[in-house]
Amino acid sequence: MEAIRWDHGALYLLDQTRLPTTEYWLRYTEYRAVARAIRAMVVRGAPAIGITAGYAMVLAAQENACKEDFLAGMAQAKQMLADSRPTAVNLFWALERMEQCWLAHGPDLNKLEAEARAIHQEDIQMNTAIGSAGAELLPTGASILTHCNAGTLATGGYGTALGVIRTGCAQGKVSMVYAGETRPLLQGARLTAFELSRENIPVTLICDNMAGTLMSQGKIDLVIVGCDRMAANGDFANKIGTYSLAILARYHQIPFYTALPSSTIDMTIPDGGHIPVELRAGNEVASFAGVPTGPEGVQTWNPAFDVTPHELLTAVITEQGVLYPPFDRSLVQHFQKV
Ligand code: MRU
Repeated sequence: MEAIRWDHGALYLLDQTRLPTTEYWLRYTEYRAVARAIRAMVVRGAPAIGITAGYAMVLAAQENACKEDFLAGMAQAKQMLADSRPTAVNLFWALERMEQCWLAHGPDLNKLEAEARAIHQEDIQMNTAIGSAGAELLPTGASILTHCNAGTLATGGYGTALGVIRTGCAQGKVSMVYAGETRPLLQGARLTAFELSRENIPVTLICDNMAGTLMSQGKIDLVIVGCDRMAANGDFANKIGTYSLAILARYHQIPFYTALPSSTIDMTIPDGGHIPVELRAGNEVASFAGVPTGPEGVQTWNPAFDVTPHELLTAVITEQGVLYPPFDRSLVQHFQKV
């Protein structure tokens, strides 16, 4: 399974808004449409939107290569993509990396395409390394709770939290994965349960509000989630509901992990209070698939992410290995190695 393809100068995205019922690929040759696709969550997940933005900048270069104001056109495209979603830092990280490339080489389409492909390939490699590092933490017969989708569909391939689960499964260590449905957009139900059952990884779908009861019955050994942006002290943003799970895990003394590539760490911000949290449209809460789930005109509040304080984290699983508290120190050491 994959979510992003680049072929003969065009970008292809698997439309994740239609999963799990329809597998439909969309073709993009124009960066503005890609920015709209990121906003509409045709493609989603922190590393995946970074990779997509990288390819979108190749599309922008194709459009601007012969223009006198190449740099202005590229800056405009970069800004439009940066405005698509605010929380996942991978988006900004990938745009910066692409910008270094066009500033160094100008409108060299081969160089830009190679850079976008490198961002994509490196993400897959980081995910497999995260999988190996994280699998070491799993007990035999592990029963794992995850939230949202941090799998192949959210990355260049293999996944971060689901990468750990994939590797653990290949090692025969995983007995069950519980996937929280992840209201309001149901990434856990539509994407994680789909991705895992495709590979015959044992998965049980639960509503988000069942996690506490599951833990109280001793059915969860550990929680692993992905991450959209980690601050320098280890506070991290992930899909709304992650914070509640971290508190539940602490109460029940269950290890709580996040898995992420270095491209998700933002050392420029000291703590989670500086992470911009995306607020999305209220109709995502008050309806689903066009069907109302609340009374007409009801007030809504729809933050797409929450911030989990680092005190609730047992460890951080990266492509370089596992980081332990104090995270302000282990994150600095991590970047000395990268
Ligand atoms: O709103 P989404 O679906 O883009 O949110 C995705 C998540 O919160 C993931 O857990 C996160 O991006 C990590 S993906 C490896």
